[in-house]
Amino acid sequence: GTRVLEVDPADPEPEVVAQAAAILRAGDVVAFPTETVYGLGANALSSEAVARIFAAKGRPSDNPLIVHIADTAQLEGLVESVPPTAERLMERCWPGPLTLVMRKGPAVPPEVTAGLDTVGIRMPDHPVALALIRAAGVPIAAPSANASGRPSPTTAEHVLEDLAGSIPAVLDGGETGVGVESTVLDMTTDPPMILRPGGLPREELEAAIGPVVLAPGVEGGTVERPRSPGMKYRHYAPQAPLILVEGPVLEMQEKIRDLAMEYAEEGKRVGILCSAESRGVYVAPVILEYGARGDLAGIASDLFGTLRAFDRHQVDVILAEGVPEEGLGLAIMNRLRRAAGGRVIRL
Ligand code: TXA
Ligand code: MG
Repeated sequence: GTRVLEVDPADPEPEVVAQAAAILRAGDVVAFPTETVYGLGANALSSEAVARIFAAKGRPSDNPLIVHIADTAQLEGLVESVPPTAERLMERCWPGPLTLVMRKGPAVPPEVTAGLDTVGIRMPDHPVALALIRAAGVPIAAPSANASGRPSPTTAEHVLEDLAGSIPAVLDGGETGVGVESTVLDMTTDPPMILRPGGLPREELEAAIGPVVLAPGVEGGTVERPRSPGMKYRHYAPQAPLILVEGPVLEMQEKIRDLAMEYAEEGKRVGILCSAESRGVYVAPVILEYGARGDLAGIASDLFGTLRAFDRHQVDVILAEGVPEEGLGLAIMNRLRRAAGGRVIRL
């Protein structure tokens, strides 16, 4: 079975963290909270340890992992060099939900980067994650701690839903805060390129270093050769097919009402994912709110948990309302589009 190690998220007990660190030092994997989502960690310097991550998640081996550090001194050996713009972002945004992709150094085994000559690195802004990295004494490679293709976990319960029995332990520090994964920024291109929008909005990056561009596909559509291997997989998906409707609020509501009626007539059990403001507009057996339309941080923090909740309600189809694509809205819409796997209606 999987051991659940309860830990105080604000002030982690050293003896609890030490138990998890011992598992990592022995070459095995542990799930742990970060400020974005739960990660499934292993010693980033060990090929054998990292292989266990891919095995536990059922993750394709061509999808690289993010390396987590607690101190910029740990960059030594992980990267070839730190470009000045990356240095500026580290000073301003670390610890925080920002992964920087740089040329990889000799200490990183090829399994971590899936053979790429670059590596993604971040310093998480969570006391448990930082304490665990320090206690392990090594950088920790960690993808999100979900089974491959499922919504990322924002609680230890989500981790257990997917991975109970396949990992030795999870550090349970309660709910994560941000709720969507880190922004992945490629620092090897000029201007830097957002490979995955996430918890640190584009606007904040641009305030720090000037213009950044979006990788093809980030705003929807499909691309033949994604810059970030992770972008090519259907992801964040609940069990039922999800149809995303994007556009002005009133038109979205009308479209979703029509679709809900059509599916109901076909005998399907309909689920609707919408803003708090829209709730009263719909009639359906399952209506779940992601929060107030104007509160994008609130929507981000509940998004994956709400997607998972549809599985418990056993719906046949999910109709989802889009949000404005500014600030955290870019990350939210990216996750919804990928959960939809191409079933997107733009009005
Ligand atoms: O917030 C997060 O980033 C969480 C927590 C646990 O830190 N981690 C996370 O990891 O979301 P994962 O493995 O689920 O997503 C990592 C993403 C993937 O899309 C992967 O393809 C991309 O980052 N990535 C990692 N290294 C890369 C590299 N060297 N070049 C391009 N993309 C990279
Ligand atoms: Mg993931």
